[in-house]
Amino acid sequence: MAPDTPGILIRDLVHTDISAIAGWMMTDQHWVSYGMTVSSIEHDLTEAIGRSDIAIVAELDGLPVGFAWCIERGMFGTDAYLKRLGVSPAHTGRSIGSLLLDAAEERCCSAGASYLSLLVGSENERAESFYRARGYACAGALPDFAIDGVEERLYRRRLTPLSY
Ligand SMILES: CC(C)(COP(=O)(O)OP(=O)(O)OC[C@H]1O[C@@H](n2cnc3c(N)ncnc32)[C@H](O)[C@@H]1OP(=O)(O)O)[C@@H](O)C(=O)NCCC(=O)NCCS
Repeated sequence: MAPDTPGILIRDLVHTDISAIAGWMMTDQHWVSYGMTVSSIEHDLTEAIGRSDIAIVAELDGLPVGFAWCIERGMFGTDAYLKRLGVSPAHTGRSIGSLLLDAAEERCCSAGASYLSLLVGSENERAESFYRARGYACAGALPDFAIDGVEERLYRRRLTPLSY
C-alpha cells in the first residue's frame, strides 16, 4: 500500500479531465515516443469512458495529475489489462503512481479479475522497476511490438489468492 499522499483524491475519470491529461502527456517523451497525439489521447480516453472501462484519475488541487486505465478481461480474454498508467512529469516521485495502481488493482479485483497484466517497454527502466517493486513478474516479451527496436515486456500480478 502506498503511503498517504496529502491532497490527492482518487476518483473516476470524467470527460472534463481529458484535455488536461492530454496536455501533460504531450510534455512526456514516453508518450510521444509511442506516437500519441492530443487527438489520439482524447479519442482513446473518450472511448474508455464510453465503454465503462476502469478509468480513474488522481486529482490534486482540482486538476487530474495522474490516471490509470484498465480494460476488464483485456488480456487473453481473462486478465484485466492495465492499458495506461501515467503521472504528470511535474508530479512524479510522490506516490501518485502507487496510489493509482493500488486503486486500479482494487477495482479490477472487485470486477472479478484474478490477474492484472500490463506491457512495459524495455527502454522504460523506471516503470519496470516500479512494477517489480509492486509485485509484478515478467511473464514474456514481445520484440518490436509497438516500436521497432523496443521489446514490450509482459508483466502480471495475481490479485486474488489461489484456490484449489
Ligand atoms: C511510472 C510512473 C507511473 C510512476 O509514477 P510515480 O507517481 O512517479 O510513482 P511513485 O511515486 O508511486 O513511485 C515511483 C518509484 O520510482 C522512484 N522514483 C521516484 N522519483 C524518481 C525519479 N525521478 N527517477 C527515478 N525513480 C524515481 C521512487 O523511489 C518509487 O520507487 P519505490 O517506491 O519502489 O522506491 C510515472 O513515472 C510515469 O507516469 N511515467 C511515464 C509513463 C509510464 O512510463 N507509464 C508506465 C508505462 S507501462
